[in-house]
Amino acid sequence: MLLNENFAKLPGNYLFSTVAKKRGEYAAAHPEAEIISLGIGDVTMGLPPAVIAALHEAVEEQAQPATFQGYGPDGGYEFLRQTIAAGDFASRGLDISAEEIYVSDGAKQDSGNIQELFAPGAKIALTDPVYPVYVDSNVMAGRAGEYSEATGTWSNLTYLPTNAENGFVPELPADDVDVVYLCLPNNPTGTVLTKDQLQVWVDWANRTGAVILFDAAYEAFITEEGVPHSIYECEGARTCAIEIRSFSKTAGFTGLRLSYTVIPRDLERDGQSLLALWNRRQGTKFNQAPYIVQKAGLALYSEAGKAEARERIDYYLKNAGTIKAALEAQGFACFGGVNSPYVWLRTGGLSSWEFFDQLLEQCQIVGTPGSGFGPAGEGYFRLTGFGSADNTAEACARLAQLKL
Ligand code: MLT
Repeated sequence: MLLNENFAKLPGNYLFSTVAKKRGEYAAAHPEAEIISLGIGDVTMGLPPAVIAALHEAVEEQAQPATFQGYGPDGGYEFLRQTIAAGDFASRGLDISAEEIYVSDGAKQDSGNIQELFAPGAKIALTDPVYPVYVDSNVMAGRAGEYSEATGTWSNLTYLPTNAENGFVPELPADDVDVVYLCLPNNPTGTVLTKDQLQVWVDWANRTGAVILFDAAYEAFITEEGVPHSIYECEGARTCAIEIRSFSKTAGFTGLRLSYTVIPRDLERDGQSLLALWNRRQGTKFNQAPYIVQKAGLALYSEAGKAEARERIDYYLKNAGTIKAALEAQGFACFGGVNSPYVWLRTGGLSSWEFFDQLLEQCQIVGTPGSGFGPAGEGYFRLTGFGSADNTAEACARLAQLKL
């Protein structure tokens, strides 16, 4: 066999590619339709002015030999790593140093690549529904086993269902697990765990030797007290958790690309430092986010940058609240939308894809079917607050006409 046979095991396309294809087909068949996209979580407001100013300045620096920057340092520029350590961690009383922060060009990349640190036979657990990158990247690595069409599950993965019945709180795995992915605030459900609930996971991981891959890409959307902004708020997390953060949704970097991954020095398994392994992996396969983008990221920690990012987050949260209220007025059970830009709703008897079709046909709204995120997402659907306020208002007016 010449090719990696694991790719052939993957069913269909990447979720958001399938949604985009369906949207394209509908648009081609109905050229007059004014489709509103509340599917993939892509931001729509422009970048903060502080970021634009930093970009211009950094571009000018690139024109002169005296200020030109070529290949950057492996983990990211010190100016950014130091500022992240101070702004995102020390400011919350958390002990994370600049050397434990590895800058990258996207949380999608890092959450897909991080599994390379683990043995081919490592047992993986994921909450279900889940961001599909975690599953697919483990399938490609040959760690997921075989796919069952009947159940929508992979034989070697441990699924931890979250649903309305368990309040979207996953149970600890019953079997032996080496690695668990937790995304909080959660994509796709928009729900959160309290600090006490997350502490249970940290204690479990330290007890069993498992590693938690904590995806905090939506941290900036937390509005409620008692919801942890970082897993390192939990006691003992430095010995069991890796945290991934993103600038994409926080500040509109979905196109610019910037993120970082935190691996504490205290995190060791098999006598080895996971930080050292990640440094080795990234040093070989990655040449860092561009200088101008790291300078743009730095601008977000200025007073103006912080305020401008906050404005955007509040705008998207307001949209999410508007969508949630419109759906609830129609009698849909809804979740999320408070500490998250995502609203997760029950489809009221239709399958997730049937709901997708109805919403597209009746309202010309594109969302994301819950079943695309895993079997426990069946019967649910995700809409995002990332549209413009006008589009969101128009979508809500159309939702009021939806007949199922
Ligand atoms: C989503 O819609 O779930 C996200 O935008 C996907 C991503 O961040 O890659």
